[in-house]
Amino acid sequence: MKHVIAIYPGTFDPLTNGHLDLIQRGSKIFDELIVAILLNPEKDPAVFSLAERRAMLESLTKPFGNVRVDTFGGLLVDYAMRVGARAVLRGIRAISDYEYELQMALMNRKLDPRLETVFMMPAETYSYVSSRLVKEIVTLGGSVHGLIPDLVEKKLLERVNGGKAALQAAVVDPLGSTTRKRTREQRGRRS
Ligand code: PNS
Repeated sequence: MKHVIAIYPGTFDPLTNGHLDLIQRGSKIFDELIVAILLNPEKDPAVFSLAERRAMLESLTKPFGNVRVDTFGGLLVDYAMRVGARAVLRGIRAISDYEYELQMALMNRKLDPRLETVFMMPAETYSYVSSRLVKEIVTLGGSVHGLIPDLVEKKLLERVNGGKAALQAAVVDPLGSTTRKRTREQRGRRS
């Protein structure tokens, strides 16, 4: 009998309810789902350290018996082969996500045709939620209640109160635009 392992890769900075929704959906489809946090993403500086993101994800995915959290560096296809995964799970919220996701899926297929990308839609309730917007809203004093897990919200607010400058550096560049580096939105998608 086939045992299908899938990877749900991302930066998860921070984890949103949209991410969690997708993890839940993925856990129902695949025998094993590995939530894989990318090491050293181009989107620096991160609001949460890798260890913090991992701890939050581990705590929030505990209820799913077939989900585990890991970190990876280098090419996703190489990591997939190392852990024996045959599928990559990605979320598509709107048509704006599609172009970048298609490009990435096809590039990964070119790199390793054994790996399939599977797209799932998160609940409509979260179709407008992105990590970037969450960071921006919290930094500017708005509420993101209900859009991110309570645990993440608590830690994000602590970060705002304790180190607003660090958080601002992660979302606002010196010219006042909303991102420091090229993000998925700028490439035609979000995170
Ligand atoms: O949360 P994100 O930023 O949308 O996740 C992007 C991620 C981690 C899936 C992507 O950047 C990735 O897979 N990086 C690993 C390096 C790699 O394999 N690059 C080639 C992709 S075609």
